[in-house]
Amino acid sequence: MWWENAVFYEIYIPSFADSDGDGIGDIEGIRSRLSYLKAVGIDAIWLTPFYPSPKVDNGYDVSDYCAVDPQYGSLEQLMRLIEDAHQLEIKIIIDVVFNHTSTNHPWFIEAASSKESLKRDWYIWRDSPNNWESFFGGSAWSFDEITKQYYYHSFAKEQADLNWQNKEVKQAVLQVIQFWLELGVDGFRFDVINNLTVNDQFSDNPIGEDGRQIHRYDVNQSGIMETLKELNEWIKEQNPEVFTVAEISSDNLSLINSYTDEAHFDTAFHFNLGSMKHLDLQNLQKLTKEFQEMSKQNKIPTLFFNSHDMSRSWNRLANNDYSLYQLFAVFVLINRGISFLFQGEEQGAADYEAQSFEDIRDIQAKNKYREMLLSMSEEQALLEANQVNRDRSRGMIAWNNDQDAGWIGIGPRNPEADHILTLYKQLIQLRKEEGPFQTINMIKLQEACLSYQTENLHIILNFGKRKVQHPLQVKMSTLFGRGTLSTDGNLVQVPPKACWIGKEHL
Ligand code: GLC
Repeated sequence: MWWENAVFYEIYIPSFADSDGDGIGDIEGIRSRLSYLKAVGIDAIWLTPFYPSPKVDNGYDVSDYCAVDPQYGSLEQLMRLIEDAHQLEIKIIIDVVFNHTSTNHPWFIEAASSKESLKRDWYIWRDSPNNWESFFGGSAWSFDEITKQYYYHSFAKEQADLNWQNKEVKQAVLQVIQFWLELGVDGFRFDVINNLTVNDQFSDNPIGEDGRQIHRYDVNQSGIMETLKELNEWIKEQNPEVFTVAEISSDNLSLINSYTDEAHFDTAFHFNLGSMKHLDLQNLQKLTKEFQEMSKQNKIPTLFFNSHDMSRSWNRLANNDYSLYQLFAVFVLINRGISFLFQGEEQGAADYEAQSFEDIRDIQAKNKYREMLLSMSEEQALLEANQVNRDRSRGMIAWNNDQDAGWIGIGPRNPEADHILTLYKQLIQLRKEEGPFQTINMIKLQEACLSYQTENLHIILNFGKRKVQHPLQVKMSTLFGRGTLSTDGNLVQVPPKACWIGKEHL
């Protein structure tokens, strides 16, 4: 299938490229950058939500699933984008948010209008709340003054959860998918799909030893797999080439993989690399091995260190150091798995930092700030909020040095941007020439040096401060990077914070 070795590129629409000078990225901005993306070498774009939305959660609160938010453009412009991308042999997958709708969605407005509404049961209502907490903090239940009941929202109170027990909801969602398939999209990213069902006894969640709630009854509930399997089977009946990727909010690989096994998603996001808070080579090695085990069962891992929900790897893992940053690029691109790059990563984009509460757009960070302010100063609360602020990776892409400020402010432009871009292009090219990589083996960690092999390549990533000497089993030549081969070809020396990719002579 086309997606098995693809390099995906995530576009967070408001921050990517602004075509009309209002400081907010838009569809035409993306279209104007298609030839740039082609030159980078990507195979597919993942578009984050572009639907009409009050933007409480920046578009993940959808108020119309079959339209484009006027701030971003029009449906016609989106169709032209899809067409132009296809001309360049770039596929487009879109984000679909079916766990919840905005409370401004006509479905919710109708459901909330009266207890007798025909759509009442499309959402989850209770006379009294249980202890379930929202993933953005606070209770997951909000009281509706008109009908005097509580509705459930696993995220913000403006994002009401759909009731997937109701068959009409599934039918309505299938119609939405049908709509986009007819417009030619090549796949779907299913947002927080393991939140879809809740326990119908509404039992209280237990509290862990750390005092935090364990989300036992509000995620991964029975019945979910069957529903999602039917959904995926229906999509494949329409067109077997359509790609489906599930977002499962977890780092537990066997749980994540159950969604490909049982619910038939093509793949799911393996957050484990992205979740790393700092460079942890033991963990990187462990994960490489676990991904290899998955390969044996024909499962394809997703490889990414960046997305719109996490701090950028330039700051978080590479500590602003180009030499280290390039090693992550090699890992994501010269490896077995589907690579997902996040906009700006290919130019070494760094985290954007909010200077005051007014600067914060991310609802999670806003909530954190308000909570912290109860017990600390404004300055400290801002520091705490910035620790979880998802805006960090959402700064406007700095396309040049004299760009006007964007909706959120411009992410700092990396002085090495051109250099990094060349690196990404070379690695993607190399992936195309040498891949597909079906197996990964000989995974070793010696001091700070991670090495592994694909079919006929040997990859050495020296994260350490010392030069390493690496024995080679077979005669190899240098394909990429900085390594010095011994004259008999049995040994390679890799300088500190450098990589070497060798190719076996066949
Ligand atoms: C996903 C999105 C995130 C959003 C959440 C709720 O995790 O990636 O940005 O806030 O779902 O829709």
